[in-house]
Amino acid sequence: MLEGKKVQLRPIKRDDLPNFLKWYNDPDVTQYLTIYLPVTEMAEEKWIEDHAGPITARAGSVNDIVFVIEAIELDSHKPIGTIGLHSINQKDQTAEFGIAIGEKDCWSKGYGTEATGLLISYAFNSVNLHRITSYVLDFNERSLRMHRKVGFTEEGRLRKAIFSNGRFIDKVMFGMLREEWTKAQ
Ligand SMILES: CC(C)(COP(=O)(O)OP(=O)(O)OC[C@H]1O[C@@H](n2cnc3c(N)ncnc32)[C@H](O)[C@@H]1OP(=O)(O)O)[C@@H](O)C(=O)NCCC(=O)NCCS
Repeated sequence: MLEGKKVQLRPIKRDDLPNFLKWYNDPDVTQYLTIYLPVTEMAEEKWIEDHAGPITARAGSVNDIVFVIEAIELDSHKPIGTIGLHSINQKDQTAEFGIAIGEKDCWSKGYGTEATGLLISYAFNSVNLHRITSYVLDFNERSLRMHRKVGFTEEGRLRKAIFSNGRFIDKVMFGMLREEWTKAQ
């Protein structure tokens, strides 16, 4: 469990399934993600099983670490979304960052910024990563703002890399190094 002031990050539970189905079938949310197919209950159950994680991990055996974001101040720790490190590479000490707050009335309240800070600290201080990469669709102003605020550096732009809502759009690539995060703290 990673504790902040507004949010805490906890492991996934089986009970999260209905929330995941609601969030990842909501086009207002998925327009910002790479999900474009309907998410079925069976697929989501399998995803939860696949991300249950080992009790003790052998070096190199963990590819993804995913947490549920809970808003501490709402309805006794309301789950509002997920956040994680993906494609973890132990040799290069890198991972890809992902976040989705599925509860739309919880957008723009600072939850994403705090959750991202908690996960980055965990990534650098506990998982011993050295670099985190993140991709944001170029119309996702809220996410662009959040990445810059947290301290990610814009490293490039993959032009017309994603087809979404009938058009090709750019993907903005962000990166953060451990020394940059440590220095900023
Ligand atoms: C992107 C996301 C994680 C951000 O989390 P959040 O809790 O909503 O964001 P925060 O409140 O911490 O910060 C957002 C910032 O963007 C600003 N913002 C909101 N709407 C904006 C807009 N249309 N244009 C520019 N800035 C905007 C907010 O004011 C805030 O900045 P501030 O704190 O300086 O005022 C969340 O909105 C989300 O999950 N959205 C849906 C899925 C998604 O986009 N995932 C990310 C994929 S890369």
